[in-house]
Amino acid sequence: MRIRIFHTEGFRIAAIFVAIFAISAAALAIVTLAVVDQELRSQIVQFANADIGSVKDGYRTQGVREASEVVGQRMASPGASDFFLLQRNGSEKLAGNLPPMQALTGVIEFPHPAAAGRAILGVGAFVAPGLYVFAGSDLRATQMARQRILRTLIWIFAGALALALLGGTIVSRTFLRRTDEIVTTCRAIMAGNLASRISVRGTEDELDRLSETINAMLDRIAALMDNLKQITSDIAHDLRTPVTHLRHRLERARDQSSKVEDYDQALEAAIAASDDILALFSALLRIAQIEGGARRANFAPLDLSGLLTRLGDVFGPVAEDARHHLSLAPGDPVTILGDRELLTQAFSNLIENAILHTPAGTIVTVSLAHRNGEAVVTISDDGPGVPPDEHPKLFQRFYRLEASRTRPGYGLGLPLVAAIAELHGASIAIESQPGRGFAISLRFPGNMDGA
Ligand SMILES: Nc1ncnc2c1ncn2[C@@H]1O[C@H](COP(=O)(O)OP(=O)(O)O)[C@@H](O)[C@H]1O
Ligand SMILES: [Mg+2]
Repeated sequence: MRIRIFHTEGFRIAAIFVAIFAISAAALAIVTLAVVDQELRSQIVQFANADIGSVKDGYRTQGVREASEVVGQRMASPGASDFFLLQRNGSEKLAGNLPPMQALTGVIEFPHPAAAGRAILGVGAFVAPGLYVFAGSDLRATQMARQRILRTLIWIFAGALALALLGGTIVSRTFLRRTDEIVTTCRAIMAGNLASRISVRGTEDELDRLSETINAMLDRIAALMDNLKQITSDIAHDLRTPVTHLRHRLERARDQSSKVEDYDQALEAAIAASDDILALFSALLRIAQIEGGARRANFAPLDLSGLLTRLGDVFGPVAEDARHHLSLAPGDPVTILGDRELLTQAFSNLIENAILHTPAGTIVTVSLAHRNGEAVVTISDDGPGVPPDEHPKLFQRFYRLEASRTRPGYGLGLPLVAAIAELHGASIAIESQPGRGFAISLRFPGNMDGA
């Protein structure tokens, strides 16, 4: 079985730290041991030199007898070497606690003559020709000190290693618990529980930021899904009435037509009704699409004044045909960030309304003004107007005033304008009183050239 905790990032990091710690601890131990060893050995040699110095002094003042005396004193004193030898002519032992030995001078190390496995370190020298002296100490003390230090270091190392492992395990456990939670939440969502979210601890660490981002993403997806659901049910609902009408009309044609011409007429009417339904369908889809915020990709800088001028050119003849008068006041050029096609659609809807829902002879005015850094487009007419309590309802889908029911249209023009305005961050205001005309303004924020 794979043990999960060993495969976590937290544990891996902990392991790297433990390894770094182990290497430095080992280096420290080696250096410490070497230094201590060096120090203890040089201490032994110092003692030995001091002792040999005393023996030489004794010999110089009072000869061989005094030298032997000094060796005896030194062997008994605590602050001196442990082993001594004073020998004459290579083999005659005069004093000391070592058997006669080869007369080597300088710092020497040799095995303990009595105890196996132990060694003696010391200094040999000639006091006078043929008179050899050695002073030295057992290296056992050095070895013991070294072992004690080594043992202490091992314990410290083991303790720290255990702590590091424990720390690593705790860190990876917490890490694992939190990643587990993220995984569980994602699985729950995949299983259909779209409302579940990852809990955020407020520590603002990486996992918190990850959780927040995932939650924000889920919120966005949920909003899109809601929007989609809304669109689906709205369209299904909204299309029911016209399709039912079409059906009734076809039924009536079947029951009441007797001549070929009647059938022809009924078919023509059915085709026209189908076209209406298709147009309605695409209008609904378009509104839904814009409300979903999916169209911002086509945003680009554009000149509002130029756009209105072009619209004026297109709608001037249309207005004349309907015996209306279109007057254009496009103002100074002003650049905004927007979707040219959608804005054209919105302004066209408003101009069409002003032509369609007003009697012949009405004057329609399209104007652009700059107010407090905002660009305000107003489409107004001096037609019959709309009572103020109806104003908000005009933005509901399919809402039309009683008087307009006989005119072509579905009541989707203003809802589309509202959706487009919203997409552009523009606010909409209607100003109208019965008998005093109708004016609708779109206020675009922060135009780009600051005019
Ligand atoms: N300029 C206007 N003057 C008077 N009434 C208007 C004007 N513009 C819109 N309306 C009213 O608002 C209703 C909704 O307009 P709209 O959403 O464009 O749908 P439609 O034009 O298809 O009827 C219209 O049916 C009409 O009653
Ligand atoms: Mg309209």
